Amino acid sequence: MNGVMETAARKIDQSASGASGLDVESIRADFPILSQEVYGKPFTFLDSAASAQKPKCVIDAETGLYEGYYANIHRGIYKFSQDATEAYENTRERVRSFINAKSTKECIFVRGATEGINLVAQTWGRQNIQAGDEIILSWMEHHSNIVPWQMLAEEKGATIKVIPVLEDGSLDMDVYQDLLSEKTKLVAVAHISNSIGTINPIGPITSMAHSAGALVLIDGCQAAPHMKIDVQDLDADFYAFSAHKAYGPTGIGVIYGKEHLLDAMPPWHGGGDMIATVSFDGTTYNDLPYKFEAGTPNIAGGIAMATALDYIENIGFDKIAAHEADILHYATQRLSEFNSLRIIGTAPEKTALVSFVMNDAHPHDVGTILDRQGVAVRVGHHCAQPIMDRFDISGTVRASFGIYNDHNDVDRLVDGLKKVMDIFG
Ligand code: ALA
Repeated sequence: MNGVMETAARKIDQSASGASGLDVESIRADFPILSQEVYGKPFTFLDSAASAQKPKCVIDAETGLYEGYYANIHRGIYKFSQDATEAYENTRERVRSFINAKSTKECIFVRGATEGINLVAQTWGRQNIQAGDEIILSWMEHHSNIVPWQMLAEEKGATIKVIPVLEDGSLDMDVYQDLLSEKTKLVAVAHISNSIGTINPIGPITSMAHSAGALVLIDGCQAAPHMKIDVQDLDADFYAFSAHKAYGPTGIGVIYGKEHLLDAMPPWHGGGDMIATVSFDGTTYNDLPYKFEAGTPNIAGGIAMATALDYIENIGFDKIAAHEADILHYATQRLSEFNSLRIIGTAPEKTALVSFVMNDAHPHDVGTILDRQGVAVRVGHHCAQPIMDRFDISGTVRASFGIYNDHNDVDRLVDGLKKVMDIFG
């Protein structure tokens, strides 16, 4: 390569990777699915907020178990059972350090954040919420952080109050302050909105709730792949996330809870592993965290979750944040080329996600046209219907970015949207 060509190639590479220092090309090489073509076009994956793709090391961790040492855990005295148990329990320590919990007892494995939130609603909630109590949610919550509380409130005669969302997609913190009272027993909010990308001020939300005597549950699904989570620093009472959004397997996630809260909560699902003794005279329960983990768990998913957490922490959240901020900036800038396009959610603190509507083109039509260009986005209400109502829309087109996306992906999205414009004008 001559000098001029070399410089040009490096420039292209730098602009594709942004200014963060993240080596996107080598990250992309870790994800086998990304080298595919779809309809003869490069596969352009812009739906990581729904579920992130998996690096080869995560896939290998699952197949490595099944091919190498698979056995049920916590039960066998033979080598493979003990090896699998050790690998699975190592994940718990890995999770503890990932979210900076004080103890592994505070890290309960669940199927995902949805199950984690339901666990808290059905145990802590049923024990502590009474008629007349209030639970505060926000307008931008995912259905998984609304419906479990509605079910609980209906059962107990409690009331749901909702923090409004301002025009830019930020929470109205003044109204939040006014909603808090001695009736408030719980505040449950997303760390980051899955539908409009707002990063919420969890520190202030938590301290205001605690001053009112309420506990706080954070839905951290969208935060786990993008930022360092420190449950002690946030002072969250409960914090839920799913591995599959953080480049890990599906069917495994975590509900963190402060130990004294989890200790006082009744068990939820009954079965093997969650007991100390069982007789027809009565049952005694296992210690934390096992008290909440009935039945054979997702062993492979648990083991591979640790690999995923290692993978992202080895890249480093500083680099990830810088890279994703660069992509968000570039995507926002490029989408502004379309007069007929309106971005929903322009909060100053925002994750790498653009949610938008286009005049005259239904989000599903936009998504279908983009799909034919190899560009995968999510369209619709994103399991967050109340925030769609708030903005008086039925749904959006959402492009969400991860560590493997670069400016080329944004350019392909823009090219696809030009095709939409050709059709819809
Ligand atoms: N919660 C996921 C999303 O935002 C499924 O798409």
